[in-house]
Amino acid sequence: MVVVFLIFCIFEVTQGVIVVGELNKNVILPCSFTPGDDEVIHWIIGEDKYVISYYHNKDQLENQDKDYVGRTALFNNEISKGNASLQIRNLRKSDENTYNCYVGTRTEKTEYITLQVIDLQQTMEYKWDHNSLHLTCSVNTSTSVGITITWYENNQEVQKNQSTKSSYIVRNESLTYQCTIYSPTVQSSWTGSWRMKEPIMKDDSITCDCNFCNGTFNSKWYFKKGTHEVEIASMDKSLPVISTEYKDRIDNLNKHNLTLRKLGPSDSGNYICVIKMEQNMDIEMTAVSISGENENHKLNAKSHRKRWILLVPFILVPLGAIFKILKDMKKARPNE
Ligand SMILES: *[C@@H]1O[C@H](CO)[C@@H](O)[C@H](O)[C@H]1NC(C)=O
Ligand SMILES: *[C@@H]1O[C@H](CO)[C@@H](O)[C@H](O)[C@H]1NC(C)=O
Ligand SMILES: *[C@@H]1O[C@H](CO)[C@@H](O)[C@H](O)[C@H]1NC(C)=O
Ligand SMILES: *[C@@H]1O[C@H](CO)[C@@H](O)[C@H](O)[C@H]1NC(C)=O
Ligand SMILES: *[C@@H]1O[C@H](CO)[C@@H](O)[C@H](O)[C@H]1NC(C)=O
Ligand SMILES: *[C@@H]1O[C@H](CO)[C@@H](O)[C@H](O)[C@H]1NC(C)=O
Repeated sequence: MVVVFLIFCIFEVTQGVIVVGELNKNVILPCSFTPGDDEVIHWIIGEDKYVISYYHNKDQLENQDKDYVGRTALFNNEISKGNASLQIRNLRKSDENTYNCYVGTRTEKTEYITLQVIDLQQTMEYKWDHNSLHLTCSVNTSTSVGITITWYENNQEVQKNQSTKSSYIVRNESLTYQCTIYSPTVQSSWTGSWRMKEPIMKDDSITCDCNFCNGTFNSKWYFKKGTHEVEIASMDKSLPVISTEYKDRIDNLNKHNLTLRKLGPSDSGNYICVIKMEQNMDIEMTAVSISGENENHKLNAKSHRKRWILLVPFILVPLGAIFKILKDMKKARPNE
C-alpha cells in the first residue's frame, strides 16, 4: 500500500503551472489526465473552496463557491478525451490563486495551477504639439516581453515597435489612424483608432455615438477651444453624466448616443468623442466652426421678415379705405 502511494506521488503529482489571464477577460486553466470511466473532477482552492465539480457525467454546482457562480465551465465533450480544463470568465483580481484540479477515474491525480490576473490598461492618447497631433498607444505591464505596437494609416501598416509605448504623428487629418497592441503573455490584441469626422459649419447638432457598442463600454466627450479642454459628458451602461453647463442642450436619445443641440458661434472648437470598449478604443474628433456673422445675418433676416409682417395691416387698411372711397365716388355719380 505504501509502495503504491509512493509511486502515485512520484508519477502522478505534476509540477505546478502558471497561467496569466487578463482582467475582465476569460481564461482556460489546463488540466489533463489519462482518459478513464466514471470521471470525478473537482476544481478546488485550498481545502474547501469549490470552483466546480463534475461526476455522474454532469456538472455538479451545489457546493460551488458564490464567487464563481455563472463564470465557470468545463468542456464536457473533452472530458472523455482526458481534458478537464476549466474556463473562468470575466476575470477578477480576486481570482488570483492556486487552483487544484483533482481527477479520479481508476486512478487519481491532482494538478496545481496558479492563476495571475493582470490589468494591461491599454490606452490611446492624443496631444497637440507644434500644431501637429501626436497619438500615443501604451500598455501598463511589468511583463513587457514581446509586446508589439503596430501603427496603421488607412489600414496600411506604417510602423512597428517592440515596446510598451509608441507614438505616431497624424500627417493627414483625412486619413484614419490605428494602433494595435499585441500582448503575447495573454495572447490578446487591442486596437485604438483615431479619425476626424466631417466638420460642422451650421447651427446643427453634433452626436457622440457608439453604434457598435454591445457589451461594456464607456464614453467621454470633450470640448477643446484653444488649449482649454473640458469634459462635456460621460456615459456607460448607467445614465449619462452631463456637465451643468450643457445640461439643457444634451439629449440622450438611446443608451449609446449623446447629442448636443442648438450649436451656436460660442460652440465653435473641437469636439472629441472617446469610446472605450473591451478590446478597443475609438477617438473621433469633429471641428465645429459657426461664424458669428452668419448668425447675425440670419437674425437680421428674421427680424426684417417680422417687420414686414407688422407692416401688412398698415398697408392693407389704407388700401381698403382708398378702394372704398373710389367705389363711393362711383355710386355718387351714377349718371356718368
Ligand atoms: C481542452 O479543451 C479546451 C477547450 O476546447 C482546449 O482549449 C484545450 O486546448 C484542451 N486541452 C488539451 C490538453 O487538449
Ligand atoms: C500601472 O499600474 C500600476 C499597478 O496597477 C499603477 O500603480 C500605476 O499607476 C500604473 N501606471 C500608469 C501609467 O497607469
Ligand atoms: C518605433 O519605431 C520607429 C520607426 O521604426 C522609431 O523611429 C521609433 O523610435 C520607435 N519608437 C520606440 C518607442 O521604440
Ligand atoms: C490627405 O488624404 C486625402 C485622402 O486620401 C488626399 O486626398 C489628400 O491629398 C491628402 N492630403 C495631403 C496633404 O497629403
Ligand atoms: C458584440 O459585437 C461583436 C463584434 O461585432 C460580436 O463578436 C459579439 O458577439 C457581440 N456581442 C453581443 C453580446 O452581441
Ligand atoms: C446614434 O446616432 C446616430 C446619428 O449620429 C445614428 O445614425 C445611430 O443610428 C444612432 N444609434 C442608435 C443605436 O440609434
